[in-house]
Amino acid sequence: MTDSRNRLGGVLIAVSAAAFVGLAGSASAQDLEPVSDLLADADPAQGETLTRQCAACHTFDEGGAHRVGPNLWDVVGRPKASQEGFNYSPAIQELGGDWTYEDLNAYLADPRGFAPGNRMAFAGVAALEDRAAVIAYLRSLSAEPAPLP
Ligand code: HEC
Repeated sequence: MTDSRNRLGGVLIAVSAAAFVGLAGSASAQDLEPVSDLLADADPAQGETLTRQCAACHTFDEGGAHRVGPNLWDVVGRPKASQEGFNYSPAIQELGGDWTYEDLNAYLADPRGFAPGNRMAFAGVAALEDRAAVIAYLRSLSAEPAPLP
């Protein structure tokens, strides 16, 4: 009994610590499971299918136009709010740093919670496995995909 309680406590601490490292400042991120361990086995083709729900607002091809949202070619690892010619909200501009795997995980899980006041009117991708597939697809959209974590 004591044993299993300790094990459970360890898991909870590990998860919230991992989420916290990548996501300091986002209250909703504290319960979020990290995506990094799933990326190597995630299926980019499944991710591409899931991004149909993004395509009303985003293009994904190199040099593609901005729509309601910015073009997402090569977004993994690039500085946030850095696409030329797109008018980002202050909420996104003030986040700072690059789009790491875990920041994408948190933003796609809960766009409003991660960047309160940002203009992406999208509920988010609820399932961790689905976010892993979407992020694996985003990673593939690059001449030099970022290294896996
Ligand atoms: C209803 C329109 C809409 C949908 C649907 C949508 N987005 Fe967005 N997205 C936006 C807007 C608008 C922004 C810019 C937000 C701002 O500046 O506040 C944005 C920003 C982003 C950014 C930050 C890009 C950067 O250059 O910093 C990422 C990453 C992103 N969206 C991914 C996605 C993905 C992946 C999906 C689908 C799973 C999706 N979005 C669905 C409108 C949308």
